[in-house]
Amino acid sequence: MTTGTPLSHLPGTDLSITVDGLKLPNPFIIGSGPPSTNANVIARAFDEGWGAVVSKTACLDHARIRNVSPRYARMRAASTGEIFGWENIELISDRPFAAWIDDFRRIKDRYPDRVLIASIMEEYSRDAWAEIVGRTQETGVDALELNFSCPHGLPEQNMGSAMGQNPQLLEEVCGWVMKDARVPVWAKLTPNVTDICAAGRAALRAGCSGLSSINTILSVMGINLETLRPEPAVEGYSTPGGYSGRAVRPISLRMNMELGKMIATEFPDRSLSSLGGIESGDDAAQFILCGANTTQICTGVMIHGYRLIRDLKAQLEAFMFRHGFVSIDQFRAKSLAYFTTHADLVNRQTDARRAEIASVPRAVKADTDWHGDSFVAQSGSLLSR
Ligand SMILES: Cc1cc2nc3c(=O)[nH]c(=O)nc-3n(C[C@H](O)[C@H](O)[C@H](O)COP(=O)(O)O)c2cc1C
Repeated sequence: MTTGTPLSHLPGTDLSITVDGLKLPNPFIIGSGPPSTNANVIARAFDEGWGAVVSKTACLDHARIRNVSPRYARMRAASTGEIFGWENIELISDRPFAAWIDDFRRIKDRYPDRVLIASIMEEYSRDAWAEIVGRTQETGVDALELNFSCPHGLPEQNMGSAMGQNPQLLEEVCGWVMKDARVPVWAKLTPNVTDICAAGRAALRAGCSGLSSINTILSVMGINLETLRPEPAVEGYSTPGGYSGRAVRPISLRMNMELGKMIATEFPDRSLSSLGGIESGDDAAQFILCGANTTQICTGVMIHGYRLIRDLKAQLEAFMFRHGFVSIDQFRAKSLAYFTTHADLVNRQTDARRAEIASVPRAVKADTDWHGDSFVAQSGSLLSR
């Protein structure tokens, strides 16, 4: 990760975007988690130039949120000590809902032109969702993100990924929310499913404006070979947690590519906010090439700090400048057309080989085609690349 002086703004490149009517100065959003856990840190993110912030998830009754410690474990490279994977067993925000309401108002008073997206979660109750949506949007937040994806702790209370793993339930709850919502709504999906598009389709069918993907991947960081106990160990015991950071990026990119294709073909007016292992402008470019409108970063900020935004912007601008792209929309979803089935790859390769052989004069298609006077050229045509 570079942390040096960022490039100055490159002429002709414009990082600003409009998504679901929200105007962002750049596509980099702080993902829901510790870097967006109260008004002070959210203000810090806006001051540093982040495009938007998704707040740490809030619910109506904070008394049900009981965090433990330690709750993080990190995977490091053996040679450099660099962190590339992060497991957490942290729950959603343990702050009172009234404190969040106060924070949302303060932030919108101070940063009226910046985009604040409130992340909310509730149980399977029409009334609870109506209350949390109503009270949250009254504060003036710009959009809502529905957390259907927290993988630990909350599913035991039928919240979080317990809903995200059940498309029928998800569609019903999103339908409730969309009846009350007056701002754009993104449904945040869990990767802990076989087919992420089933959940995404359910949320979009219910009328959500967009999807956020992915939350963390269920994981066990390791077993301590001295104590024989799993980590992170709380009083000697552990539970599977959520894995994030650079290590999850290929899995996240695959799932976002699948959602990008689904949105492009079935819901072309809806949006995609991608996250999962993004730490550089080049990472973000890849997700945008797979259909993302915006990119969120959570673990990357926990590792590199809020100033990461300078590198992210400079690297994305450099990518755009290299290709002559002047806006994000010019390259969004451009790589989706190059994903296909394995059977199609076989057909394409067979066709390409046939065309190649046909184009080589005196190519060897059968043993009777060998000629002594062009033996060397003919053998060359049979070499692999
Ligand atoms: C410590 C920690 C706490 C998190 N808390 C929340 C949360 O409250 N709500 C939520 O929707 N996602 C939460 N997440 C998930 C992140 O927003 C994000 O979906 C995930 O970590 C993948 O992105 P990343 O690799 O950029 O972190 C949390 C992640 C971490 C690491």
